[in-house]
Amino acid sequence: MLFKNNKVILAPMAGITDPVFRCLCKEYGADIVVSEMVSADGILYGSKATIALAEFQEQERPIGVQLFGSDPDHLARAAAFIQRNSNPDFIDLNSGCPVPKVVKKNGGSALLQNAKLFEKIVSAMVKSVSIPVTVKIRSGWHKFNWVDVEFAQMAEAAGASAVIVHPRSQTMGFSGHSYWERIYEVKKSVGIPVIGNGDVLFPGDALRMFDETGCDSIMIGRGAYGNPWIFGQIKDALNGIAYRDIPPLIKLETALKHLLEFARQYGERSTVREMKKHLAWYIKGMTGASAGRDLIFRSQTMEELTGALSTLMDSLKRESIC
Ligand SMILES: Cc1cc2nc3c(=O)[nH]c(=O)nc-3n(C[C@H](O)[C@H](O)[C@H](O)COP(=O)(O)O)c2cc1C
Repeated sequence: MLFKNNKVILAPMAGITDPVFRCLCKEYGADIVVSEMVSADGILYGSKATIALAEFQEQERPIGVQLFGSDPDHLARAAAFIQRNSNPDFIDLNSGCPVPKVVKKNGGSALLQNAKLFEKIVSAMVKSVSIPVTVKIRSGWHKFNWVDVEFAQMAEAAGASAVIVHPRSQTMGFSGHSYWERIYEVKKSVGIPVIGNGDVLFPGDALRMFDETGCDSIMIGRGAYGNPWIFGQIKDALNGIAYRDIPPLIKLETALKHLLEFARQYGERSTVREMKKHLAWYIKGMTGASAGRDLIFRSQTMEELTGALSTLMDSLKRESIC
């Protein structure tokens, strides 16, 4: 049942979906969240930083930890370690990452060029843990040379509990648009839940994806940038409730809350490095956003970052008085 009944899921995004952001998305309506991708080899080397990427807070449940790699035995052992260490609700296999660093080592979307290896990996991971294993695939390596149905069926036969489909090819990167009809084709071809992913930026897109593809649940990545409310808005839209736009002042207050919580957990240096992009996403489209972005990206300290948000808040308040 975990992946059925119109669940709205936060996508794994390296460098973005840390525990602070995941908790925020949960608070605003995400049903399930997933860690950013974690190297199976890094886990086995005992890298503290890698192991930390696979950890989470109890309030994030249900949560999946995503692994990448290309060696069936390594992935199986890393999955077993993660189950013992943090015991997430499921483990996902990354079979879609197009980034050269991952693909060169035969991981991520490179698995889509090696059906036998993919099948071995899923099978080994399923055998190594007692929690569900899911797979997240792109639709193929080359555009229009789709292998998604074949890989989804293979994953199901190997014991996977759900398949997440991002219907672009490796060669497309993030360009063009995702081919939602591929999600429909995969849904027709397997019995396990199918989670649709790709280009859901507004609640209306989510309704359309459910309608056009018949998918069981959907996964949102970039649509959640500076917009953790998208999950609740989609659920309202699914329930026929008119969703509310978020007033700029609420966005700024949430940006500040996000910033302060990140600083509390990770300290000033990491916060200044990691939070600028999030803050810029929150203020996108607001009056004064361009000057605000300059202030944010010039900031070297927490004080400057909070100051940038305060300046924007003050100018919004002045504007609403005028
Ligand atoms: C910055 C960034 C990092 C990503 N990192 C991962 C990752 O770690 N694992 C993964 O499976 N997909 C990753 N993705 C892909 C997303 O999970 C998702 O499949 C893709 O962005 C399409 O969904 P969207 O249109 O809703 O963003 C990443 C995407 C972006 C933009």
